[in-house]
Amino acid sequence: MTSVNPQHCLSVALKLVKEAGELVRDAIKKKKNVETKSSVVDLVTESDKAVEKLLITGLSGVFPDHKFIGEESVAAGEKCVLTDEPTWIIDPIDGTMNFVHSFPYTCISVALWVNKDAEVGIVYNPVLEQMFTAVKGQGAFLNDEKISASGQTDLGQALVFSEMGTSRDPEKVDTVLTNLTTLITKVHGIRAMGSCTLNMCHVALGGVDICFEFGIHAWDMAAGYLIIKEAGGVVIDTEGGPFDLMRRRVLCASTQELAEKIAKLLKQYQPERDGVSE
Ligand code: IPD
Repeated sequence: MTSVNPQHCLSVALKLVKEAGELVRDAIKKKKNVETKSSVVDLVTESDKAVEKLLITGLSGVFPDHKFIGEESVAAGEKCVLTDEPTWIIDPIDGTMNFVHSFPYTCISVALWVNKDAEVGIVYNPVLEQMFTAVKGQGAFLNDEKISASGQTDLGQALVFSEMGTSRDPEKVDTVLTNLTTLITKVHGIRAMGSCTLNMCHVALGGVDICFEFGIHAWDMAAGYLIIKEAGGVVIDTEGGPFDLMRRRVLCASTQELAEKIAKLLKQYQPERDGVSE
């Protein structure tokens, strides 16, 4: 079994993420060069690329044997492969649409997975100065203060985050709308804020009781997964089974009971899986 020193990995990555945060904080106020990827609403800017380059260059300088899965590297043709080797999974800007509109619900997400399990998770919203961190077995923190999921079990009292996503495939759009229709009369409230990663962190923080989404990628979930688990929350597949990072769907909740209640109600959708999981 490969092993790493998680505290050392956390402190190296934190320094780089803070540096990248300065770049995002500065760029969000300015005009962006926006390109499209898989659809007209799947966006990338020069800042996404610059942040990913800064992080991968910095991390590979300290950890030359580690592997990488980065959103923009994969978009540029790199393979998305998760092995047992230490792998940094990076979303340089999650909530790129929000970033483009200067809406401050956007973040940098960095996770380290080893033996196909999360060891370190960092999610940083540099605009609102929110730094979420977790190391496996050591709890989850927001700006160094311990955080916990809400403990909510009552669906009727649950605040739910979900997303429209970037796919305009009619079956996917129908899944989103059907689920909203099903849930609107059953839950306390529904929100769509535009960042899967930050949605997961808000379940960890206890401000949101459930979040789910179909069609996201490994980099949207890799850090949030550990932060929720370390905050005492639950991350499962949208159907109710174990979570699979490469399956492009996620259901997070404050408790197992609540997760199971909502899984039973959701219309399911299976996008094409991410890359290759060896
Ligand atoms: C997006 C966000 C959004 C989700 C999209 C993702 P990106 O990530 O997480 O909430 O609905 O499906 O693509 O592209 O801004 O990193």
